[in-house]
Amino acid sequence: MGKVRTLTCPKCQREVPPAERQFFCADCRMILDVQVDLSHLSADFQDKLLRRQDPTIWKWHEFLPVEDLSCIVSLGEGYTPLVHTEALAAATGLERLHVKNDTLLPTGSLKDRSNAVGISKGKEFGVRTAAVVSTGNAAASVAAYAAVAGMQAVVIISADTSQQKVAQAGIYGATIIPVEGPYDQVASIYRAAVEEFGWYDCLSSNPYRLEGKKSYAFETWEQLDGEVPDWMIHCIAGGAGVVAAYKGYRELKGLGWVEKLPRMVVAQADACAPVVRAFERGADEVTPVEAGETIAESIRVGKPSPMATRALWDVKASGGTAVGVSDDEIRSAQSLLARTAGIFGEPSGVVSVAAAIRLKAQGTIRSDDLVVCTVSGHGLKQVGVLDPAYLVSRPIPARLDALRARLEELMR
Ligand SMILES: Cc1ncc(COP(=O)(O)O)c(C=O)c1O
Repeated sequence: MGKVRTLTCPKCQREVPPAERQFFCADCRMILDVQVDLSHLSADFQDKLLRRQDPTIWKWHEFLPVEDLSCIVSLGEGYTPLVHTEALAAATGLERLHVKNDTLLPTGSLKDRSNAVGISKGKEFGVRTAAVVSTGNAAASVAAYAAVAGMQAVVIISADTSQQKVAQAGIYGATIIPVEGPYDQVASIYRAAVEEFGWYDCLSSNPYRLEGKKSYAFETWEQLDGEVPDWMIHCIAGGAGVVAAYKGYRELKGLGWVEKLPRMVVAQADACAPVVRAFERGADEVTPVEAGETIAESIRVGKPSPMATRALWDVKASGGTAVGVSDDEIRSAQSLLARTAGIFGEPSGVVSVAAAIRLKAQGTIRSDDLVVCTVSGHGLKQVGVLDPAYLVSRPIPARLDALRARLEELMR
């Protein structure tokens, strides 16, 4: 038997052998869950692992589903800084708020954690064409990893995706197909195309890909010197971040390395918040919502994959919560984070921080709780939504008196 013991359906527990390369449960249509065998890890393994000098997610390769390590495609992803500043703590009233700065991943978003594993697994499978439908960040990430793996990448995007993200996917050499209509409509064509053309699916419906985001648990555990956060807040669309981070912490608990689990928090933009709505209704399943307008374009998914239902289950099981925030709260978290922590996140990427501020204000999170917010995408990926004052300025003539006048005007 290899590293992957089996794949299980999270709903009916049906087991599917890895050799079948099946992604969904044939009965429930849930995305299968990869079970990596950790039973052979000895008592002294923790010391051995922590001594490894590998600043990537692959430091934890025993926990990841790639059997043949020569198939690993790495661009140096992982071990992003866990940032705490006094200024951010003071501004939010959260004394122990830490921000996992995933804007610094190789293609500038959290997608690199999952695609590093998804594409490496694809290489092991002998895949030639990797495909994804994307709100932008997955397009760039799949394109980069596929390029380095020597695969073709086909990315399908909604025609109104930020030009910065599209350009990024293009420079890595992906075949980009813009499709008219909102993401949810575009995604249904993608699913049909995967069937039709036999592409390797790099969406959250690929169970191997999810495993990469378990690295949130492994890295934060190490960066916090073994302390488990009281709250972990993720900006989500499909929900993979919440499901995988929680799974990673459950694996650590199974090994006896931690005693408790974090409370998981789903953060979404209020205008498009299917998981939040399901949580508020007390439902057991996420049902689609109409995607309203929001600046959080990367997580504007009204009809998420069944992974979102798992995120809902994990939020409930962990004693966490789900929060929808407004565009005003997102904008204000974006500038606060930039000015107090030096982190420039895209609107979707800072929804976690906006949620933390809201949860503190309503008394759900206490000021001395240990809180980790993932900031999941770089602000340079979506500059079009910024206050125009940051983008354009009225030039002055090259004279000192003109400079003095402008300074007086601006610094009044
Ligand atoms: C910046 C950003 N944050 C968060 C997400 C949500 O990721 P998921 O819900 O799949 O963990 C996405 C993409 O969907 C994204 O691009």
